[in-house]
Amino acid sequence: MSYMALYRTWRPQTFSEVVGQEQTVTALRNAVREKRLSHAYLFSGPRGTGKTSIAKILARAVNCEQEQGGEPCNQCSSCQDILNDSFMDVIEIDAASNRGIDEIRDLREKVRVLPAQGKKKVYIIDEVHMLTSEAFNALLKTLEEPPEAVIFILATTEANKIPATILSRCQKYNFRRLTIKQISSRLQEVALQNKIEVDEEALTLIARRANGGMRDALGMLDQLTAYTDGKIGRQEVLNVLGLVDDLFIAALIDNVLQDEIGSLIQMLDSAQQQGKAADQILRETALYLRDLLMYQAIGEQAQLLMVGPDCLPQLQRQAQKTNKQQILNTLSLVMDGIEKTRFSEGQRFILEMTFLQMANLFAAPASPVARESKSTAVKQDEQATVSEQEKQARNEAREILWNQILAGVKEKKIPTHALLAPARLLGTRGDTLYIAYSKGYRFHKDRMEEQANKEILQSVIYEIFNRDMEIEIIFLDDNQYNDIVVKKAIEYFGEEIVNVKE
Ligand SMILES: Nc1ncnc2c1ncn2[C@@H]1O[C@H](COP(=O)(O)OP(=O)(O)OP(=O)(O)O)[C@@H](O)[C@H]1O
Ligand SMILES: [Mg+2]
Ligand SMILES: [Zn+2]
Repeated sequence: MSYMALYRTWRPQTFSEVVGQEQTVTALRNAVREKRLSHAYLFSGPRGTGKTSIAKILARAVNCEQEQGGEPCNQCSSCQDILNDSFMDVIEIDAASNRGIDEIRDLREKVRVLPAQGKKKVYIIDEVHMLTSEAFNALLKTLEEPPEAVIFILATTEANKIPATILSRCQKYNFRRLTIKQISSRLQEVALQNKIEVDEEALTLIARRANGGMRDALGMLDQLTAYTDGKIGRQEVLNVLGLVDDLFIAALIDNVLQDEIGSLIQMLDSAQQQGKAADQILRETALYLRDLLMYQAIGEQAQLLMVGPDCLPQLQRQAQKTNKQQILNTLSLVMDGIEKTRFSEGQRFILEMTFLQMANLFAAPASPVARESKSTAVKQDEQATVSEQEKQARNEAREILWNQILAGVKEKKIPTHALLAPARLLGTRGDTLYIAYSKGYRFHKDRMEEQANKEILQSVIYEIFNRDMEIEIIFLDDNQYNDIVVKKAIEYFGEEIVNVKE
């Protein structure tokens, strides 16, 4: 016998077998029992939460020859035929396929034909948001004057894409993400029956990562049984699913918050050497930040997807040190990073860039007062203790950032790139980014000061930092340093950086 994926063998066959979705299940079961059926239902909600499963249960329940308490018997010939996909009056249409569109077009005539085999004709239209507007119109016409013995069940993950005219003609049910507890207990049941040895921590980890979807959770369990011999524990889950440990991400974020560029880069390096993909690290970081945000917003109530009990103290600490806006900004940086890794070969570079920008974002002080006190307080011992290693790490970081800025400008306008190329990046402080030319480049500097060129640079910087920044362009080898901007730059970045010798 060929192997059948767990999520298919474990499709709930009766309303009572469905996990969660209590309100939907109760309402539908009552409607069947009391024969108060609507002509059109809309099931909307996240992937793998039971929309198609419940649609099929409903299709059987309304056609069952010995329905009891609103449940299908799954034994009678109608139920059996529906289960075997050989029942003429239950028609499944995949709106995402070309055939689906043709089928909708034919719908208006076909729905008039009475059920051939059963009591009700049931049309299950999956992914209904994918219909073209022409197909929506055809569907609408049918919904406007529905034949007596027809039931439409529309299912979608994106209810917002359904025209209001259609929505208003459907009875709507919102499917919810399943809780970690609901998923892990189902997994436990599945594991037990299939003699899969897996410990509770592993199950919870899977359940967290499934993000409320049962199909994904079962898929992960499938994958784990295929790739592991013997007992499945936390480590197996992390390895097989290529996940990064929550503690690892927590440590990365600690480094981000403390602006520890050196060890940040080092950690990213070693993770990649251990075979973790750059995009995976970013994805896990996004998940972690999501948890951080949730924790900050609602505390202990938050349902954490990534952070386990061991990591919770770190999360709590970080939640105190950050604010919502910062995390949102960071999250959008990470999402951008993920997007970029999809199209780019330079994954490692993108990963590093993203984390450096994150550090930068947190380094940018929330208020000018905080900035002043931080920079003066830290500066004295900073100047004394900044190690060579740290200096080097900072220089590397600056280098990476500058290259990204140049690349962005080049993409927008090559002549501007040519003007900017001889300059160098001093760094950023607060809302200002400092770049510098040496004296020989007066022409370049002057042209860069022009509005049009500056705007290009500014827009690239906006894309990178996700916020507007002032740009200061200065000359470096100005011996007198009488320019106030140069003085400020030296104060911030140190003389050895500002005073470049070509
Ligand atoms: N509420 C649930 N209770 C029990 N199992 C579920 C539930 N939801 C999903 N599953 C499991 O996931 C599989 C897929 O579920 P289903 O096809 O009903 O999801 P869906 O909501 O239609 O997802 P999609 O939006 O991706 O089509 C089922 O076969 C079953 O194994
Ligand atoms: Mg479905
Ligand atoms: Zn039956």
